[in-house]
Amino acid sequence: MQILTIESTCDETAAAVVNDQLEVISAVVASQEALHQKFTGVVPEIAARAHVERIVPVIDEAMTRAGVQWNELDAIAVANEPGLAGSLLVGVVAAKALCLAHDLPLVAVNHLHAHIYACRIAAKRDLFPCVGLIVSGGHSNLYVCHDALTFEPLGATIDDAAGEAFDKVASMLQLPYPGGPSVSKAALEGDKTKYNFPRPMLKDRETLNLSFSGLKTAVRYTIAPQGQVDFKTLDLEPQLVADVSASFQQAVIDCLVGKTVLALEQTGIKMLCVGGGVAANRELRGQLEEAVSSMGVELHIAPFELCTDNAVMGAIAFERLKAGITESLDLDIKAGLVRMA
Ligand code: KG4
Ligand code: ZN
Repeated sequence: MQILTIESTCDETAAAVVNDQLEVISAVVASQEALHQKFTGVVPEIAARAHVERIVPVIDEAMTRAGVQWNELDAIAVANEPGLAGSLLVGVVAAKALCLAHDLPLVAVNHLHAHIYACRIAAKRDLFPCVGLIVSGGHSNLYVCHDALTFEPLGATIDDAAGEAFDKVASMLQLPYPGGPSVSKAALEGDKTKYNFPRPMLKDRETLNLSFSGLKTAVRYTIAPQGQVDFKTLDLEPQLVADVSASFQQAVIDCLVGKTVLALEQTGIKMLCVGGGVAANRELRGQLEEAVSSMGVELHIAPFELCTDNAVMGAIAFERLKAGITESLDLDIKAGLVRMA
């Protein structure tokens, strides 16, 4: 069996052809990074319009590179939740139109579950049940993943996502968007113990929720103690930028590692799968490895190319297809963020 998968939840337009051995036949990603750079974050209206322009060429390219005809496909899968409403709609409408035109079944993909499934694709063997950690620009969530179809939420950020905090801090430090890679690069020259930033909710063992907005505010007042300023006009010493980057990054990592370890302790599960853009962070990868190895936990972190948004992880659709779960052509989007109270 082989399927076309489509991803347009945020600011990457992506399509892939994958088979039920979870082999990648083709994978195309059109990044919108350059379009959003000057706004230091994703502008939803610009993202939706760019998806409209790119979706057909990206799908064409994926099909051409795969050398596959429409009648050789078994289904079309599309991420319909969660994400930006305008962005999601473009992928979902394209998938429905193609299903109608080529008489193919439609399969819905949950983008967050797909981020975790990226580990399963790379491992080429079953990793369920596992604890799942998703850290991206829009989400920071912990799950118990009982099987590839059953994801039980354990906790989530109550305000900003980890990636969002990286992006905002980068903007304050006049580092380029996306913030994760630029802050982690600046952090290489910095002292992570220089600023003792808060680790919100880390000590509270009653909850697996996370919070990054207070940390972001603490960074803000370290850079500009005088309060309201235009960060673009600040004259920042390179060493301050490096030290703030390293100290901020360490605070985020402590929160993510701490809550993940707590989730593993509470569930007793010995398998951990980590995905999402922030999972590309080398410090986080190393420190997670260190923290869980002494617990006898097997750790799987998505390979770099499957951390940030892509369509390959939409291969999770095979799990639904095999369970006989397909959608009618009135499939809707579910834009909302998954957050715990
Ligand atoms: O998963 P993703 O591509 O999109 C969403 O679903 O949100 O994640 C994008 C996020 C951005 O906030 C970006 O700054 C962050 O992932 N990111 C990183 C790194 N690479 C990307 N954060 C920290 N360290 C990195 N190396
Ligand atoms: Zn994502």
